[in-house]
Amino acid sequence: MKLKDSIALVTGASSGIGYAAAMALAKEGAHLVLLCRNPEKGEAAMRAIAQASQNPKIDLLLADLSDQESIRKVGQYARESYPKLDILINNAGAIFPKRRLSLDGLEQHIALNHMGYFLLTHQLMALLRAGERKQILNLSSSAHKLVRKLELDNLQGEKRFGRFYQYGLSKLFNLYFTQQLAQRFGPDGFGVNALHPGVVNTNFSQEGKGFTAFLYRHLGRFMRQPEQVGQQILQLLTADEYLLIEGQYFTPKGVEQPSVLAQDRALAEQIWERSMDWGKIEEYGILD
Ligand SMILES: NC(=O)c1ccc[n+]([C@@H]2O[C@H](COP(=O)([O-])OP(=O)(O)OC[C@H]3O[C@@H](n4cnc5c(N)ncnc54)[C@H](OP(=O)(O)O)[C@@H]3O)[C@@H](O)[C@H]2O)c1
Repeated sequence: MKLKDSIALVTGASSGIGYAAAMALAKEGAHLVLLCRNPEKGEAAMRAIAQASQNPKIDLLLADLSDQESIRKVGQYARESYPKLDILINNAGAIFPKRRLSLDGLEQHIALNHMGYFLLTHQLMALLRAGERKQILNLSSSAHKLVRKLELDNLQGEKRFGRFYQYGLSKLFNLYFTQQLAQRFGPDGFGVNALHPGVVNTNFSQEGKGFTAFLYRHLGRFMRQPEQVGQQILQLLTADEYLLIEGQYFTPKGVEQPSVLAQDRALAEQIWERSMDWGKIEEYGILD
């Protein structure tokens, strides 16, 4: 199926990798749904992508992906507005310097970087089933390797909190989610993979005064550029083998093995079950 007949939803499309991926897909003629948090930034991205791609099929949806009510609302709106979804790119994410809880009482890295992917995908599953491509790409990170051992009694940083560890944990969960989605939905024709994009010159981590913020603010030109990642995402999604090699971990070099911990299927299953509880998915219904 050609991209010009596809509908693609990209989260965090107002800047960085999400913006670049949306631009690359829009230039190929896909109908783009940009899911953004900030209305002004979202509208600016929509205008810039429409102008550069000369593609009139660019829509904007607004949601705070760290807030489950907001995710459920935007999910319902998408189900009422579109006949199908062919491609979902779960990308919106951040690193938070201090431990903060979301409105749902989850630690913010888990709420946004993990549950933002998990719950939104559930909300959009019926649309993805109706799509011909059935492709999901989850932005993860090599930072998942910072987690050597899973402390099941400290997943929300209740006992100890370190921002790099907690960010890494959320990115490990992205890999568990990818593995579980591929296992559960691969037989129905879904292609699900994860990408570590490299160190990319985006707005990521520019908040704060730490060393990482300094690096991202001042050494951007030595990093990978978001446009390169946008092109890699386009190539991944249009490669014939996307559906065949599902559940894989891509990096700028190609397919690689994630950490040993990330390959633990029993833990992946356990985190899936916990996420069902964190997202109150039984209570609100599973949309498959
Ligand atoms: N950059 C890197 O070096 C790097 C490396 C490895 C992995 N990654 C991953 O790549 C993904 C994209 O990051 P990026 O580098 O492109 O960073 P970015 O430029 O900061 O973009 C992050 C996007 O997420 C959105 N976002 C943040 N909080 C949100 C919320 N509560 N609800 C909805 N959207 C929200 C942001 O919206 P606003 O514009 O409103 O802030 C922005 O559009 C992340 O998942 C990150 O973990 C990045």
